[in-house]
Amino acid sequence: MTKPFIQELLNEMTLEEKLAQLTQLGPYYWGLDDTVDLTGPFKELNIKPHIMENIGSVLNGTGARNVIELQTRHLQTSRQKIPLLFMADVIHGYRTILPIPLAMGSSFDLEACERFAEIAAKESAAAGIHVTFSPMTDLVRDPRWGRVMETSGEDPYLNARVTESMVRGYQGKDLKEKGRIAACVKHFAGYGAPEGGREYNTVDVSSGVLREFYLPAYKAAVDAGVAMVMTAFNTVDRIPATGNEQLLRGILREEWGFNGVTIADFNSVNELIPHGAASDGSEAAEKSLTAGVDIEMMSTHYLNHGSDLVEQGKLNVALIDEAVIRVLELKDALGLFENPFKDADPLVDEAAEPCAEHTQAARELGASSVVLLKNENEALPLKKGMKIGLAGPFATSVHVLGGWAGVEKDTAVSLYKGISQKTSAEDILTAMTGELGSMLEGIFDVEDEVEEAFNRLKDCDVILAAVGENQQDTGEGGSKSNLRLSANQEKLIWRLKDTGKKVITIVFSGRPLELKPILEASDALLQAWFLGTESGNSLADVLFGDYNPSGRLSMSFPYTVGQIPVYYNAFQTGRPYDPQYPQVRYVTRYLDCPNDPLFCFGYGLSYSDFAYSGFAVEEGERIHASISVENTSDCTGKETVQLYIRDVSASVVRPVKEMKGFRQLSLAAHEKQVVSFEITKDMLMFYGKDDQLIFEPGEFDIMIGRNSDDLFTERIWIG
Ligand code: IFM
Repeated sequence: MTKPFIQELLNEMTLEEKLAQLTQLGPYYWGLDDTVDLTGPFKELNIKPHIMENIGSVLNGTGARNVIELQTRHLQTSRQKIPLLFMADVIHGYRTILPIPLAMGSSFDLEACERFAEIAAKESAAAGIHVTFSPMTDLVRDPRWGRVMETSGEDPYLNARVTESMVRGYQGKDLKEKGRIAACVKHFAGYGAPEGGREYNTVDVSSGVLREFYLPAYKAAVDAGVAMVMTAFNTVDRIPATGNEQLLRGILREEWGFNGVTIADFNSVNELIPHGAASDGSEAAEKSLTAGVDIEMMSTHYLNHGSDLVEQGKLNVALIDEAVIRVLELKDALGLFENPFKDADPLVDEAAEPCAEHTQAARELGASSVVLLKNENEALPLKKGMKIGLAGPFATSVHVLGGWAGVEKDTAVSLYKGISQKTSAEDILTAMTGELGSMLEGIFDVEDEVEEAFNRLKDCDVILAAVGENQQDTGEGGSKSNLRLSANQEKLIWRLKDTGKKVITIVFSGRPLELKPILEASDALLQAWFLGTESGNSLADVLFGDYNPSGRLSMSFPYTVGQIPVYYNAFQTGRPYDPQYPQVRYVTRYLDCPNDPLFCFGYGLSYSDFAYSGFAVEEGERIHASISVENTSDCTGKETVQLYIRDVSASVVRPVKEMKGFRQLSLAAHEKQVVSFEITKDMLMFYGKDDQLIFEPGEFDIMIGRNSDDLFTERIWIG
């Protein structure tokens, strides 16, 4: 039921004012600097002053002082005194930069994900932001795509749980509460599946695949009460998402009952034209509004053509009214009609010192996201007093925040700094610490420097090689076809190995890289991602064993780039590969590399060892699968016990396995716990050939274990 004051505002609006309410522009159009990089085409829009006075929302205009100034000016001129909504990309923290979302997914820690969003909400609310364009919950299977850093990975179940935790963390119970902001889940739908991993490329997935893999996490956001949904740049079944009525009105609103605000991604209403789905701006506006896109971001076809479309009878004004009501309702839910500045607070926003509590949390979140991929000969943890050699472009670098780092630039704790707080600085010897630019293949020959590093570090007790990819290579527009470390970095690691000392390779990246070429040269391998402000401290905690690594991969790491896409929940095939018969040719396989990734989904090591035993599936009125897990080591550790299911035979082909649950256990030295999962019917349901969610009785494999490739299995019949 629309509140009377909102209905009155609407009744008194001209059509032009309604269309302005449905338009979002960057601060530049109000004569202010854009505080955050814009990621799309930018042009002079020649908007008339009386329209600017009634625009509904601002893109990436942040900073309490800016927001207060702009809102004040706006309210002085806006005829109906309707406050602006400030929306921004707060992707992994605002002032305190937190681990990138792919790292958060790898924590498998849902409380941590909620805390992550809560911290980001508090800081951005103080900066005047009302809505964040997060969580980005696009399922991803192709690490060539730069935006995998912004998602929680390849699994629908994990993505859904992380997404709902983040929505809760941003929004709390009431958007009016201090420190809460509205969340906008994105990019609806299927943006994470561009062909070849190339940004903005075609997406072509069947409706069954869309429903089973790609849609669940967006749906989880809707079920968790997300305030907004952003439409994707790509097509969904050949129709651009931003003009896709079946997707936006059919699935999102009618099927899922979403009644919040939808927004087009940057200029994507206009992009219906180059897509070839609209012949001009008028048709683009007609299609997007009809499809159910409420707000047009950074293009002005609604403004320029909306009135004519209504006049020509091509667009029902009721659709525009509905959209305006939704926007006004969101402003009301945030309390902006009572307090248009909400939590904007220059004193907090501009405080000289970062919030100590958030800094500490960033350190903990960072440590819990790191994934230990290899640890031979007890290379890790490091011991105090060891002589540590530290080399590579990320050894002393502060460029480890990761893409979309909000207003903060280069303020992170470097690895060197983190380590030097654990051990005396005299015990650390650095070599070849130049930034990545100087390590790029073909540009510089670093033979001499590598030799120098070898000579300088050869007498250390242990050597850390801090390598990776440039943080600018990740995020939007960051697609790559080669996922190897630069040749110079690989050369460095192998030469360091010649010292005969233990080499610990630490990989900074926003995506799974191709690590096979340096695997043998590394006694230990640590996936460090981009951990944000506290990067060096989080890593030092892990390296010295003050935090026992607990991260698990939320995305498969390819053996070689030629395998991509490689992911754990692939469909069963008619000619499966059987590892017992590796020579058989006419099965699904590569001649020159394994089918399996180098490191699979759910994989990660700990300094503790965990023994699994007593796997059992009990069938009664309810079905339970249980297993007992024992920490057989002398140190406390966290283990993530994972449940997978396979539907053996069904009316449509089913995946080889699908994760249906996980449990994180903290086990003291030698402690043993039994973990039990109830197997419910909804875990066994799937989308049948008519896109209906169904359950079919039959045989199911119930699997529990430490990762998607190391599982105990029992087959049972469920009717
Ligand atoms: O939120 C982003 C989106 O993810 C990509 N295009 C630009 C938007 C606003 O900055």
